[in-house]
Amino acid sequence: MFTAEMRESIKKVEATRKERMATEPRRMTAEEKDTLLKAYHPDYRADGFAEIKVGPNKGQKAPRELTELLHSNSRLLKDKVDLSKVDYETDVLVIGGGGAGSSAAIEANEAGADVMIVTKLRIGDANTMMAEGGIQAADKENDSPVQHYLDAFGGGHFAARPELLRRLVMEAPDAIKWLNELGVMFDKDEDGRMVTTHGGGTSRKRMHACKDYSGAEIMRNLRDEVLNRKIPVIEFTSAVELIKDDKGQVAGAVLLNMETGDYLVARAKTVVIATGGAGRLHYQNFPTSNHYGATADGLILGYRAGAPLLYQDTIQYHPTGVAYPSQLFGALVTEKVRSLGAMLVNKDGEAYAHPLETRDVSASAIIRECANGKGVDTPQGKGVWLDTPMIEIIGGEGTIEKRIPAMFRMYLNYGIDMRKDPILVYPTLHYQNGGLEIGGEGFTKAIDNLLVAGEAVGGIHGRNRLMGNSLLDIIVFGRNAGKAAAKKAKTVELGAMNLDHIDAYAKELEAAGLETGKVSPLLLPKYARHER
Ligand code: FUM
Repeated sequence: MFTAEMRESIKKVEATRKERMATEPRRMTAEEKDTLLKAYHPDYRADGFAEIKVGPNKGQKAPRELTELLHSNSRLLKDKVDLSKVDYETDVLVIGGGGAGSSAAIEANEAGADVMIVTKLRIGDANTMMAEGGIQAADKENDSPVQHYLDAFGGGHFAARPELLRRLVMEAPDAIKWLNELGVMFDKDEDGRMVTTHGGGTSRKRMHACKDYSGAEIMRNLRDEVLNRKIPVIEFTSAVELIKDDKGQVAGAVLLNMETGDYLVARAKTVVIATGGAGRLHYQNFPTSNHYGATADGLILGYRAGAPLLYQDTIQYHPTGVAYPSQLFGALVTEKVRSLGAMLVNKDGEAYAHPLETRDVSASAIIRECANGKGVDTPQGKGVWLDTPMIEIIGGEGTIEKRIPAMFRMYLNYGIDMRKDPILVYPTLHYQNGGLEIGGEGFTKAIDNLLVAGEAVGGIHGRNRLMGNSLLDIIVFGRNAGKAAAKKAKTVELGAMNLDHIDAYAKELEAAGLETGKVSPLLLPKYARHER
């Protein structure tokens, strides 16, 4: 399966393994990290960004591909919709059927609200489903939410919004309890205690996992709970624009049936945007570990309606995407592989960085090695080795099959046995650190009754997220959004609905000389086939 050049390099990896295992690479100093990030992290590549010319974040920068969508018009300028014909009426409208949306819907239903989910693909087609390594929570004797806060705050370059990060870590133990009671099959030892491991930048072992398909297992349970509660789920239906009323508060959304092309009107007292990430915009031409529908739709809906973004200029590139074989290019290789002991090694067999630096640092170090001729050639570019046989040496025979069985099988399908040979990795576009700005209760500050949860939120993690804090945030902020939306819906009186904000946005674009002829949200990746 490996090329002759790769095999030659593997010999060097094997030759240095014993010595490497005896002397683990030291952690970088803060100054070293800073220099590395500025030189190699894609967030510092000026040509990857463009200035936003309209809306609340005017004058700030965003990835070029996101800016293009922010500079596009609503499809409803051309395709007129009759708002007097209401197709769905509900207290709480949840846009997005992933982990955050499902958690919100469950809690809104629990609080007695009438709630419905709309999702452009199927419930569970989401980044939650793709999450592998685990979910953080400080629920062991040697740990505390304060410790968790310090790790995440430092890892995020001290930029996290304190009120959001505080909520994340304080409510983490209860999130685990809730999931466990829903039926999530966490890894446990013989005494029934949760097995926990380290992630990059954690000072305690607080990663709870379901082998290496933690997200799929969590999503399985959330989806079952939504369906058992008979919460309506409208699948293959995208929200394409928020609706406001004559008081300026959010009043629902215009939906697009992805199969028939028909528009539908959903009237709601509160709306939760839980549309997830943006990997399928392929910033700076990176491959992605994200699901097919990750096209930043919620950011566009919220922004056009007047809600500001926060940290939209910071993106997470997971250090270890698959670099080879080509069929898996960009797929996630969970950080858990490094938690279990695998080192990052360049083509000469050198361990050039500690395997559990924070993600932005690890990704930058890989990019540096490859840029400096220390990467291994692959059909798509270059990669470095992740020395997986070390896991079996450290943890004993069978550890890989037991702890990361999905990864093991994924590679075996392509003739690579990661117990015997290292694997080739390169950073992949994994997570948007930025998103819509919210307050501690989950509401946007600019639009009444509009909430955001999950990856569409900016500010929870600052400018870099630690492993396992995303599965955590979808549960914590999803649940809170559902509770808050249900409570608020009890007091909301809706006025006459309108789409005036899309006309106002169009005028702003025109005044800025931006008539691109393009429409957003994108809904599906640019390379999607549009057949009906
Ligand atoms: O590496 C991983 O398993 C990814 C986890 C995360 O993004 O939190």
